[in-house]
Amino acid sequence: MNSNVQQWNADLYDTKHKFVSSLATETVELLSPKVGERILDIGCGTGHLTQHIASCGAEVLGVDSAETMIWQARQNYPNLQFAVMDAINLEFTGEFDAVFSNAVLHWIKQPEKVIAGVWKSLKPGGRFVAEFGGKGNINSIQTALERAICQESSAFEKVSNPNYFPSIAEYSSLLEKQGFELTFATLFDRLTPLNGESGMVNWLKMFRNSVLAAFSEDTQARILANVEEQLRPTLYKNITWFADYRRLRIVAIKN
Ligand code: BEZ
Repeated sequence: MNSNVQQWNADLYDTKHKFVSSLATETVELLSPKVGERILDIGCGTGHLTQHIASCGAEVLGVDSAETMIWQARQNYPNLQFAVMDAINLEFTGEFDAVFSNAVLHWIKQPEKVIAGVWKSLKPGGRFVAEFGGKGNINSIQTALERAICQESSAFEKVSNPNYFPSIAEYSSLLEKQGFELTFATLFDRLTPLNGESGMVNWLKMFRNSVLAAFSEDTQARILANVEEQLRPTLYKNITWFADYRRLRIVAIKN
């Protein structure tokens, strides 16, 4: 995971947001890890997908900028390799057959630096397979949060969005500028169920903690209730909350 302001709680991530790694099966299939390949997993979090890729016979290194996540990953999978490293400062040269990343790149507002590091890390012919939030991701949640905050405090006219959600065109052009050949790109909606009756509140507490932290506990509680009220008609169905995720999935080759 990567962000200057976002705080990562590995326990909360594993208990309430495990769906993040369980939804990545198709992206791992797209990666198609082979026995003996060396693969870099950027933003490995608590290591579940690193383990999934390693179970195919590849040698995987999981990196994450959050020490808390790497500590938990090492507890979860002591036989795998993990390192604390920021995706904008990857320290490898021509070592990997593939670089993989799931649900992380939307936290990094300097995509050029990530792409340059991925390029440098790959062997010639290596592949970059990634999925993350694309243009339009969580539009309803973000809009409801901004509205709730404006209603609390006129000083907060514009709430900054801590994420980067590019279109296919935008991201392809960055990849091609680096020299990658883009062989696959898709942008698709994936309404994603959140765990439990407090699913939306838990999501906001986990992923918008940097925004909510500016307010007192009472105000935060009002903001969260307001967001729930706005979203209930569209994102609460059959006693389940959903996040209006939209994923960008790509494969790019270093030719
Ligand atoms: C996502 O996976 O799309 C996402 C998660 C947290 C915050 C923003 C986006």
